[in-house]
Amino acid sequence: ALFPPAEVSLQSYPRDSHSNVPPSLIPRLSPTPVLPYTPHHPLELLRTHIESHLSPAGIEPVLPPSPVVTTKLNFDDLGFPADHPGRAKSDTYYLNKETCLRTHTSAHEVATFASGKDKWLMTADVYRRDEIDASHYPVFHQMEGASVWSVDKGDAFAPGGEVEKECEAMERDLAQASIEIEDKVSLDEAGGWQPSHQGDPAKLRAAELSLRHLKGTLNGLALSLFGPRHAASSSTGSDEPLRVRWIPATFPFTSPSYEVEVWYRGAWLEILGCGVVMQRTLDGAGEAGKGKLGWAFGLGLERIAMVLYSIPDIRLFWSRDERFLRQFRVAEEGQVGKLRGDVKGSAGGLSKKREKLITFEPFSRYPPCYKDVSFWTTSSKTSWHENDLMELIREETSPSSVEATTASDGSLVESVSLIDSFVHPKTGRESRCYRLNYRSMERSLSNAEVNEVHERVVERMKRDLGIEVR
Ligand code: PHE
Repeated sequence: ALFPPAEVSLQSYPRDSHSNVPPSLIPRLSPTPVLPYTPHHPLELLRTHIESHLSPAGIEPVLPPSPVVTTKLNFDDLGFPADHPGRAKSDTYYLNKETCLRTHTSAHEVATFASGKDKWLMTADVYRRDEIDASHYPVFHQMEGASVWSVDKGDAFAPGGEVEKECEAMERDLAQASIEIEDKVSLDEAGGWQPSHQGDPAKLRAAELSLRHLKGTLNGLALSLFGPRHAASSSTGSDEPLRVRWIPATFPFTSPSYEVEVWYRGAWLEILGCGVVMQRTLDGAGEAGKGKLGWAFGLGLERIAMVLYSIPDIRLFWSRDERFLRQFRVAEEGQVGKLRGDVKGSAGGLSKKREKLITFEPFSRYPPCYKDVSFWTTSSKTSWHENDLMELIREETSPSSVEATTASDGSLVESVSLIDSFVHPKTGRESRCYRLNYRSMERSLSNAEVNEVHERVVERMKRDLGIEVR
């Protein structure tokens, strides 16, 4: 079956005040990631492309464990402070205080290094509470890649050693490629070298080389994904170089840390976060991590697939509709249709065949139907988070089983936006107005049906959020 039912058993986790995994998410849970391993699925095309790009560098795929993880793995071991916003109940799905659905693939860094893997690539489903719009969905997919080498054993970091040689090869390729790299961030802005690296010349050299290797690797990856032929044919029609920029970032488990963005179709698109792996992570990996140093990155597959294949709504990734899947199958098999030429990628000394670029042709959309809801929050300070409202709307407007859906995930609300808010000058109470945009990808919704669903949403809001509808 393409979409196996949830086999992740949640019964064994006693509920407490943290528990907030909604029933609608349960059918999405699977012990192994589904979409990136579904043949011809756009996320599968992207995963395999990235895997084959990185494999010549010895970076090999590993399978992730279950998405249910301890907060120790997801946060503590990676150095997240106790009050880090990522831990908030408003942002993370908790089974209980100690157990959550992983919010990122970095949750498995320590264990993967501990298993003895030095160069690996893991694709997995990750979960975050978020707003409702075309680019946010409670489940999405990340790929975590890492490469570490031994500082004291062997001579990987020695002058003329493995790492330096690979850096030089990648830089040579990039110098010849049509790519413009903007990388002016100072080391301090990016978090600086880690103290334990600073104090040790061999480690400092290794950290410097790791960063150089990371840059070569990811610039090469960006080129292979968004190479000039792709970018040019889509927007301007001219053969412009790909533009990539490195901006400073902060992650508790890397330093220095960066985000990489590419200029694509007239906008900067953030494609990944990365950096030099924290000593803490490798220390946590015990014997296997001892004396090692290197880099890690994490990228979001949906975001990249949406722009690369022109997929307009994130719900479409859950489609079981032939009108969606067929488009990727046809193009991959090399039949005529939406092909844009066969591009040979050869960045970073890595050359491989690449799949043809596909442009998804949206099937006709059914008309939207707006409903607004205005309410007073109980006091001027709300006791609930906006994501609680989003969650409640998802719950009331999504099918309870995956089987029931076809053209997308089966949900009826496409986006929710705050369109007005003010505080009453006398009472100090806050008023908010949200607009719910109802639209199904399966069929035309009647006004009567939307009214009925909307009424249920409003009832739940009154009950669960303690608000007063105006
Ligand atoms: N886990 C980070 C995120 O989800 C990305 C990341 C991975 C950053 C690895 C640095 C190293 O945003």
